[in-house]
Order: sequence, then structure tokens, then C-alpha cells
Amino acid sequence: MTMKGQGGFAIRSATLGDAERIYAMIHLNRDQLVPRSLGNVVEIIDRFFVAEAEGEMVGCATYQIHPAFGDAAAATVEVQSLAVKSMFRRRGIGKALVETIIERISGFGPKDIVALTFAPEFFGALGFVEIPKTKVMHKLYTGCMNCTKHTDPFTCPEIAMKRELSGPCSNY
Ligand SMILES: CC(C)(COP(=O)(O)OP(=O)(O)OC[C@H]1O[C@@H](n2cnc3c(N)ncnc32)[C@H](O)[C@@H]1OP(=O)(O)O)[C@@H](O)C(=O)NCCC(=O)NCCS
Repeated sequence: MTMKGQGGFAIRSATLGDAERIYAMIHLNRDQLVPRSLGNVVEIIDRFFVAEAEGEMVGCATYQIHPAFGDAAAATVEVQSLAVKSMFRRRGIGKALVETIIERISGFGPKDIVALTFAPEFFGALGFVEIPKTKVMHKLYTGCMNCTKHTDPFTCPEIAMKRELSGPCSNY
């Protein structure tokens, strides 16, 4: 999947050759992103997208599907590891990465997409609204449980946000 942005960038599926740069980008944004090992990036490389501009990788993002007990259709998709290189920000690259993820997952028919983030203005501009963290308990158990910065997700300053999706045919 390749998507050309208007600002001279392209979004494409990641390859194994991107894994080390993705790992480095996540590490560079470690104050905002949950850390990943290089091995983990490789394991889920088929779920990563990257942005390219001026011949280099300038952004990345992935997603995870969190199942809900007893209701398969109620699974929630979470945007993860979203980052854009500082000097390439505010050109629509972050938005294009999230849109690409939404396009990718829409065929699965999730009802919504969520993010736990320190960038609520960005997600707000993309139609996400703040929700109580109690609505993303699956994420808190699978991700926040292993957080090395905060012992309690409810006192952590990250904000939970959600955007409703319109079902299997959604094209954003
Ligand atoms: C969040 C991040 C990915 C945004 O990437 P980006 O490429 O700059 O975002 P876009 O250019 O697509 O922004 C789309 C819209 O979001 C809003 N927005 C983006 N960054 C914003 C900011 N810092 N403050 C306020 N609004 C912002 C704006 O409305 C923007 O549109 P505009 O530029 O036309 O005003 C980038 O700032 C980043 O890598 N931050 C560090 C890592 C991080 O916080 N990741 C999110 C973790 S879930």
C-alpha cells in the first residue's frame, strides 16, 4: 500500500529493511512512545507503515487489535508507535499515517480506533475525542502494565482518545 501525500511524502508498508530505523525513531521519541525492542519491531513489521520524504524515512506508525471478552466484533484497534521526525512535522505526515492505518483496518470492521497519547491536539484534529481510561482497560492491561515510567495508568498524564469508525466499508 503506497499513498502519496500532497506535501512531497509517501506512505508505504514497512519492510524488514526499515526495522532498525523504526526502532531508532521509537527510541528517539521515548518520552511519548512505549519502548519496543528491535526484535519486536521485526515481529510485527507487517503491521508497520512508514513515511518517506526527501529520500529518507521520516515517520512510522503501527496498530494493535485488542480483543474484548465475549464479543469478537467489539475488538478495539489502537494506534501505536506513531512518530514523525521533528523537522518534517506539521506537513500532514502524521495524519496520513493514521489515515493509512484506518484504511488498512476498515476492512476488518472495527467499531472504533483508540490512542493513548500526549498529543491530544493532533488526534483531536483527526476526529478523535477524549474518553475515560476505564474504556480502554484491555490496553491498560496489555501495555501500561509493563510501563517503566508510571506505576498507575490513572495518574499517568497520557490521554485516552477514540474515534468511531463506520464499519467494514469505511474508507475514512
Ligand atoms: C504527533 C505527531 C505524530 C504529529 O505528526 P505531524 O506530522 O506533525 O502531524 P500533522 O502534520 O499530520 O498534523 C495534523 C494536524 O494535527 C494538529 N497538530 C499536529 N501537531 C500538533 C501540535 N503539536 N499542536 C497542536 N496541533 C497539532 C494540527 O491541526 C495539524 O494540522 P495543521 O498542521 O494543518 O494545523 C508528531 O508531533 C510526533 O511525532 N510527536 C512525537 C511522538 C508522539 O507524540 N506520537 C503520538 C503518540 S500516540
